[in-house]
Amino acid sequence: MKNLTDIQAARFDDLARPYLAHPAVQRMGGFIQHGNVTTLAHVVRVARCAFGWSQRFHLRVNERDLVAGALLHDFYLYDWHAPHPATPHHATRHPLYAAENAARVFGANDAVLAIVRTHMWPLPPTRVPASREALLVSLADKYCSLYETLFLRAGRPAASPAPQPKARA
Ligand SMILES: [Fe+2]
Ligand SMILES: [Fe+2]
Repeated sequence: MKNLTDIQAARFDDLARPYLAHPAVQRMGGFIQHGNVTTLAHVVRVARCAFGWSQRFHLRVNERDLVAGALLHDFYLYDWHAPHPATPHHATRHPLYAAENAARVFGANDAVLAIVRTHMWPLPPTRVPASREALLVSLADKYCSLYETLFLRAGRPAASPAPQPKARA
């Protein structure tokens, strides 16, 4: 995100690196989310957006949980365009599949799991974002999904290539 200072961008990269370096997270690069944007590029865009808003509006958030929850919010690991009996009702249930994977692969804490589970609110209306971090991710997801659907459709060049983890120092 352009409006992050160098220090903020470095902090974001430090928080995101352990997730982006993980092969299971990299698998999201093999699935299309919106337009011609992979799920990996989508979750990184959402994470940078949510983190950027928290900085711009000086919101007191747990940055570690915010970035983890944003990066894992669509960690469901299948092609949602192809119906699959093991993962029915994608629209309402993929947050639960993603949370299961986040718990299994990363041992994600309750705050992160809540961010993941509620990101589709108001779908369903009962799964309400109940923290600043969850609300930021839910809003950033909608904002980025609309942007990707409207402006990054097939046939247009992707605005951002699939992100790669930076080499460890
Ligand atoms: Fe989602
Ligand atoms: Fe999403």
